[in-house]
This record gives sequence, structure tokens and C-alpha cells, in this order.
Amino acid sequence: MTQQHVQQHVAKGNTASGGMSRRSFLKLSAALGISLAAPSVMGNGAAAAADNGYSYRGACISGQRVLGTGTHSLTVSPIGFGIMGMTYNRSQMPEEKKLIALLHEAVDRGITLFDTAIIYGPLTNERLTGKALSAFHNRIAIASKFGHEVIDGKATGRQDSRPETIKRYCDESLRRLKIDCIDLFYQHRLDKNVPIEEVAGAVSDLVQAGKVRCWGLCEVSADIIRRAHAVLPLTAVQSEYHLMFRQVEENGVLEACRELGIGFVPYSPLNRGFLGGNINEYTRFDPHNDNRMHLPRFTPEAIRANTRIVNELQQFGRTRGMTSAQVALSWLLAKAPWIVPIPGTTKISHLEENIRAADMALTKEDIEELEGQVSAIPVVGARYSAAEQAQVSS
Ligand SMILES: NC(=O)c1ccc[n+]([C@@H]2O[C@H](COP(=O)([O-])OP(=O)(O)OC[C@H]3O[C@@H](n4cnc5c(N)ncnc54)[C@H](OP(=O)(O)O)[C@@H]3O)[C@@H](O)[C@H]2O)c1
Repeated sequence: MTQQHVQQHVAKGNTASGGMSRRSFLKLSAALGISLAAPSVMGNGAAAAADNGYSYRGACISGQRVLGTGTHSLTVSPIGFGIMGMTYNRSQMPEEKKLIALLHEAVDRGITLFDTAIIYGPLTNERLTGKALSAFHNRIAIASKFGHEVIDGKATGRQDSRPETIKRYCDESLRRLKIDCIDLFYQHRLDKNVPIEEVAGAVSDLVQAGKVRCWGLCEVSADIIRRAHAVLPLTAVQSEYHLMFRQVEENGVLEACRELGIGFVPYSPLNRGFLGGNINEYTRFDPHNDNRMHLPRFTPEAIRANTRIVNELQQFGRTRGMTSAQVALSWLLAKAPWIVPIPGTTKISHLEENIRAADMALTKEDIEELEGQVSAIPVVGARYSAAEQAQVSS
């Protein structure tokens, strides 16, 4: 956002910044490197808005959702924040002070679940999370993930969920995150060499030691969920789930979560940005920092074919005042009250848009109409490369 944009928007009183607290606005302006006479501009904008009888407030998230049950539950905002793309795999890497300002904005606006992992970077994403969010830890939950082996800051491509490694990784994560206890510690991928009961036992020790509050699993089968839950109740399962990939509805994972009282966190809820409508066949991904370069679903041919799906979401949202990203998020939220999607962004405008999706309830008829339209279009391209697919158990 340029200085001119901010001034225009504030004067109109109809942007995210127009509705922010003055402190947030000043903080964001400072982080964006914008120097303007904020107090007088804000004052004029607010007065003009009041005179017109038109007031605009930046979106704050309302309501709460509960992941998990009883002593293993975590109460969080209906939409969380996926931090991964701020440093890893999503091409764009704005400077750190802008990322920190955006994370603070997310806290200000009521988001209380933030998602990172050791492998993101590796390590850089947890460091950013610690730097930006540790001071707010009394009012937010921080989730991280272990499992992918990292040696000297580099990913080896192997899994290591041996109990001693999990405990060492936990200590290292706590240091990077600058907190005493990880609220939700997920196993990132199944380690076929370590029975899930042993993994659960190791995490149980960490819970006993006060270093982990709750735990979860990513991309596992219903059978693994049941075995793990029997040793240490799970709070959340995190798997890919969105309008273009609905496997968890069919492979028993959502059913197991419902039956056992486990929360579900859909990752990549916008299909890695695709459902937001800003990606087309000419989009170039950073070859050094974007795994979409290697995903079959993101070849130019696949993008061209799958754009029909985004068009359907846009068409559906047009009469309802929703963007395609909001349709995608609202659809997930409508699926079950124990589902909490974690979209990622590097932009205040997208944060605003995504937060507003939490207030856009879809009816049963809406869902049927949307699913009917989308499922009539075949999805082109697999979600993962063969190597990545081999690491997911379903
Ligand atoms: N457990 C796992 O194995 C796993 C795997 C992948 C991801 N995750 C988690 O899930 C989180 C989200 O996943 P993700 O980043 O892959 O996918 P995503 O949330 O579906 O998409 C993120 C992308 O969408 C764009 N975007 C966000 N809001 C938008 C909007 N309203 N309109 C248009 N574009 C928008 C972002 O770009 P801008 O920056 O331009 O907004 C970003 O490139 C990650 O941060 C991570 O925490 C977990």
C-alpha cells in the first residue's frame, strides 16, 4: 500500500486502516514506511464518516471455536493464521518488520490461533513467530510441528519422530518461539519407523513436563488417529481440505474426529492461494521459495483448466457480496463447528477479507448449490508430487 493509497482510503474512511484502532493504524503505517500526518488525517476521515452517517470498522473476528474435548481442548478464533507463507514456499517475502506488523494486526483483530512448524524455512518461520508473537502468548495459542528431520538448519527429506528427537525438537522450538509451552504440537508427517503409540508417549511426557499443552497429527489415516487418541487424546488433526480437495470427507478422517471429539484444522484452505482468484496460467512462482513450482495442480495447463472452479466460486459469491476466498473459507466453516481453517497471507487486505468470511454464514441450500457446481468440474493435476505424496498416509 502506498502513501497515496493510505491517504485516499483514510479520507474516504472505508478501508481496513479506516477502521483500525489509531494505535494499530500508526503501527502499520510505521511498519509500511509511510510517513503522513496520521492524527489529522484520521481525525478528518472519522469526522467525515460520522457526518455521512456512514461508519466503517476494520474487521475483527467474533465468536470462538473449540478444538478437542475437555482437558485436551483449545478454544480459539473461528479462523486462525497460517504463518508458513511469510517465510517459506509462497514466493513473497516482505521485509520482517512488515510481517511482524501484520501478525500484530491479526492479534489486534482477534485471531488467536497461529500455525508454524520447524520445517518452514527451516527454522526461520518459528523464529519470526517467536519474535512477533511471544509477547502476546497470554491471549493466543501457538501451534508448531515436529517430524521432518532438520540437521544444521537444513531439511534432509527424512522423518524423525523418535521419542528423544521429539523432545529435543520441542526444546529447540520453545527457544525459537520464546515461550515456555507450545499450545498445540503436531506430528507433521507419520514416521513409518516409529509406532504412533511411541510418539504419543513422548508427547505425553512433554505434557507432563509442562512443555506442551495439547497435541495433534497431520495427514494421517483414521486408524492412526484412533490409535494415537487411545494413548493421549488428540486436540486437532490437520490435513489439506478445501473445495478442490475433499478426501477427508471420504477416508474416515472427519468421521473419526467427529466421533472422538477431535478438532479439525484444514490447511491450505484456499488451495495455496488458488481459490483466491489471483493466480493464472502466467503466474510465475519463485523457483527458490515456492513448492507450487513442483505441484502437478499448479502447472500452467492445470491452472488454466482449474480456473473454471474459481469462476464458479466468483459467480456464487457475486450475488452474495462475497469474494471467492470468502466463499472457500465460509464453506469450510459451515462444515462443522469444530473446524478452524488457517489461511496464510502477507497482506492486510487479504487478512481483512479472510476475517470477514467468519461472519458470512452459508445455508444448507447454499452449500448444496455450491458443491453441485464445483463437483461438476473435474480437478486437473494431483495435489502433491510423487515424493510428497509418499509422505502422507491417506
Ligand atoms: N500440516 C501441513 O502439512 C501443512 C501444509 C501446508 C500448509 N500448512 C499450514 O496451512 C497454512 C496455510 O496454507 P497455505 O499457505 O499453503 O495456503 P492458503 O492459506 O490456502 O493460501 C495462502 C496463499 O493465498 C493467498 N491469499 C490469502 N488470502 C487471500 C485472499 N483473500 N485472496 C487471494 N489470495 C489470498 C496468499 O497470498 P498473499 O500473501 O498475497 O495474501 C498465499 O499465497 C500454512 O501457513 C501452514 O501453517 C500446513
